Amino acid sequence: MPHVELEAIGKSYGPVTVCHDVNLSIEQGEFVTLLGASGCGKTTTLNLIAGLDDPTTGDIRMEGRRVNELSPVQRDIAMVFQNYALYPHMSVAENIGFTLRVRGLRRPEIRARVEEVAASLELSHVLDRLPAQLSGGQQQRVAIGRALVREPKVFLFDEPFSNLDASLRVRMRAEVKELHQRLGVTSIFVTHDQEEAMSISDRIAVMNRGRIEQLGTPEEIYASPANRYVATFIGSPQIELFQGVLARASTGVSLRIGAELLGLAPGLYAGAPDGTKIDIGIRAEHVRLADHGIPATVRLVQPVGPSTHVTLDWQGGTITARLNGFARIERGQLVHLDLDARHLLLFDSNTGGRITANGPG
Ligand SMILES: Nc1ncnc2c1ncn2[C@@H]1O[C@H](COP(=O)(O)OP(=O)(O)O)[C@@H](O)[C@H]1O
Ligand SMILES: [Mg+2]
Repeated sequence: MPHVELEAIGKSYGPVTVCHDVNLSIEQGEFVTLLGASGCGKTTTLNLIAGLDDPTTGDIRMEGRRVNELSPVQRDIAMVFQNYALYPHMSVAENIGFTLRVRGLRRPEIRARVEEVAASLELSHVLDRLPAQLSGGQQQRVAIGRALVREPKVFLFDEPFSNLDASLRVRMRAEVKELHQRLGVTSIFVTHDQEEAMSISDRIAVMNRGRIEQLGTPEEIYASPANRYVATFIGSPQIELFQGVLARASTGVSLRIGAELLGLAPGLYAGAPDGTKIDIGIRAEHVRLADHGIPATVRLVQPVGPSTHVTLDWQGGTITARLNGFARIERGQLVHLDLDARHLLLFDSNTGGRITANGPG
């Protein structure tokens, strides 16, 4: 039985519909991320799960039981927000233990629970400090501790690291992931940062304009995107798209990109007729340079350490290759591309839907 289930959830504010037919089934102990651009409905969806807002249509279930009418407290959910607003005049221990005090637990019991949580978050040595005396990362961990101490059934995180600087954000990702691996509490995480989502999640729901475009593991959404939107949203450098046409001949199927003809495996792409306009997606790690092949000119060379991103002028646009290490290559140089057809992602230009080897995805 799924732990948290959204079935045909719709949410409208007056005439404006913010969530359209959202279906999501989350297993016990899973870490699922809602990923999408600002305004796509992530927070709204999370608030519906939390019980802070009511869906216009559809059902929300926890452990098989419909919870639409239950309050946030009854749902036994804890939320960590971007603005975690700790009580400034309370110590770390008091901040973490606050909800337990409100619940009327006895002092020794509160102390024991707070110490346990603080130890798991490496906050034991700062329990007597005020929030202002902590680093940003420690403050964020106190906010997590405050949620953790309640021992909720489900954790909800709404962009909890957005206010942290880049290096701390990366560290907090690892901390939250380790914490989740240790405690195994079902977690739903919201972010607009695809790299954050990829690195932290068991599965990712890519959202766009109030809809889930695709739900899958990081590998599935990266390597097998359901459509052009997902392919473009996931990956850095961004996937590059070229217009092409599917060309069928007795010898097999190929893609015409400008003057170039790229052969595809024969007999495949059965669902797409000759002349289908196709957007061809190529990720930088699949663009190889070779002695022969498709000519292109180096426009920009960007070393980033483990690899070098080389942007090339090609077909009136650019294409980026990710080469290992510090590539010995210069602006203006003429090179040849080796595009492995097995790694191309093909999308129907009209619908944006993925065309797989077996037909339209
Ligand atoms: N209470 C509200 N009334 C009207 N529109 C709202 C309300 N809350 C959110 N919206 C709208 O719903 C859309 C989705 O918002 P939100 O869920 O906050 O997006 P995200 O968290 O993905 O950035 C936005 O266009 C926002 O303006
Ligand atoms: Mg939001």
